[in-house]
Amino acid sequence: MVKRKTCIFISGQGSNLKNLIFRSRDKNFPITISLVISNNKNAFGIKHAKKYSIPYSYINSNYKNYENKILLNLKKYKISFICLAGYMKIVSNFLIQKYRGKIINIHPSLLPKYKGLNTFARILKNKEKKTGCTVHYVNEKLDSGNTIIQKKFFVLNGDDEKILKSKTQKLEYKAFPEAIIKIFRNT
Ligand code: GRF
Repeated sequence: MVKRKTCIFISGQGSNLKNLIFRSRDKNFPITISLVISNNKNAFGIKHAKKYSIPYSYINSNYKNYENKILLNLKKYKISFICLAGYMKIVSNFLIQKYRGKIINIHPSLLPKYKGLNTFARILKNKEKKTGCTVHYVNEKLDSGNTIIQKKFFVLNGDDEKILKSKTQKLEYKAFPEAIIKIFRNT
């Protein structure tokens, strides 16, 4: 099996990155993680890249044309697939056009509900009975590309933001690898 050379974009903890690193060590998993890009110099997730000797690059997204730098890195490592895993920056049309249909994102809600930030606070405020996570393709509109996989759980009395986050992330660790397998299943 030819594994797709993949880049994971992060900004913070990188727990999804860590999970994908483990999964991608399986010879039957369709991707290999060839590069990690962080727009946050202090992202904890960079430590996972270092520990597993995966090339990583910090790219300051406050500069104009920073996506040109990203593109150069993607080309250098022959990246053909991109996973956004807690990347807190909107990917612009520039990159989306170059990697159309090849960028996926994980979002902590049942899209199309609760696009954007602060999902857990809004979910609690609206007394939702169910929530979960969505893995979807990235297009020009925020959190609006086609869904690949969703996983749900029931919100219980007493669940606060911290509990919702932890329950959601547990599902994310299943959903992200499953989505990747689903994408490449018939290729
Ligand atoms: C995840 O919960 C994901 O849904 C959201 O950002 C979080 C990233 O967590 N987009 P981590 O950095 O993978 O730990």
